[in-house]
Amino acid sequence: MNVQEKPYIIVLGNEKGGTGKSTLSMHLIVHLLRLGFKVGSIDIDARQGTLSRYIENRQKFVQMNNKELPISSHHAIIKSNLPTVADAHQEDKEKFLACLETLKEKNFIIIDTPGSDTFLSQLSHSYADTLITPLNDSFIDLDMLARINNETREISGPSTYAEMVWDQKKQKLLRDRTQFDWIVLRNRLSSIYAKNKEEMQALLNKLAQRIGFRLASGFGERVIFRELFLQGLTLLDLKDVGIEMTLSHVAARQELRALLEMINLAPLSERLQDAS
Ligand SMILES: Nc1ncnc2c1ncn2[C@@H]1O[C@H](COP(=O)(O)OP(=O)(O)OP(=O)(O)O)[C@@H](O)[C@H]1O
Ligand SMILES: [Mg+2]
Repeated sequence: MNVQEKPYIIVLGNEKGGTGKSTLSMHLIVHLLRLGFKVGSIDIDARQGTLSRYIENRQKFVQMNNKELPISSHHAIIKSNLPTVADAHQEDKEKFLACLETLKEKNFIIIDTPGSDTFLSQLSHSYADTLITPLNDSFIDLDMLARINNETREISGPSTYAEMVWDQKKQKLLRDRTQFDWIVLRNRLSSIYAKNKEEMQALLNKLAQRIGFRLASGFGERVIFRELFLQGLTLLDLKDVGIEMTLSHVAARQELRALLEMINLAPLSERLQDAS
């Protein structure tokens, strides 16, 4: 039986900076590696390179502590600086497709995109099987999904990022004859501002129907995420490296599991069993 199919591509995207794309990318990578999948990763935000640095930190940690930790096959793409737009886009596209080709034997490819609108980001959205968009828990962040009337809190229409996602969905449909699944989640939820939280939830539920995404339950504000970056670790590595789990860590891991359950891994797990 031919069990090797095309890799499943998960893109982390949001044109707004600092919403948790790179942090979540790393957590997804490690989770999937720990399930036994072959995982490739691409950083198309290579100028900033947060995911690439996260992975480098992990490699250093492994070397310095003599520990075995799973690491993805990682590629970083630097945006072309050719003088004409057409040439630059062509070069970006070639580099991107070359990366996908190199990673074609993987079960999953995780793509981390920048917090800004670039050609490479748009292109990679069109290759997603699942797009995950983390939002910070504020009305300012909602603005990149929809235009919202400040007074009435009514939705007046989709905004630039939602339109871009829509366009890339069409590109994918034309090219591959398939759609992608779009999951939106709120990150860094605080335990205060309960009223604000409820309002956001109500608006996001309305938006989910209107612009076609599924809403995941999201992640609380947890210091651990910032601490782990420097060591290249994730919440899923704590036991292996001897860090004691606190209640907050356990809660964060539950939040991650809830997100992963929304990506239907069952068919892929069957493939993995067939292959072993
Ligand atoms: N749930 C969380 N709780 C606390 N801190 C978090 C959480 N998620 C992410 N962070 C922190 O927020 C900062 C931004 O996260 P990250 O770099 O993952 O965002 P990003 O969307 O990739 O940003 P950019 O758009 O600049 O690439 C980091 O310092 C990260 O450690
Ligand atoms: Mg990032």
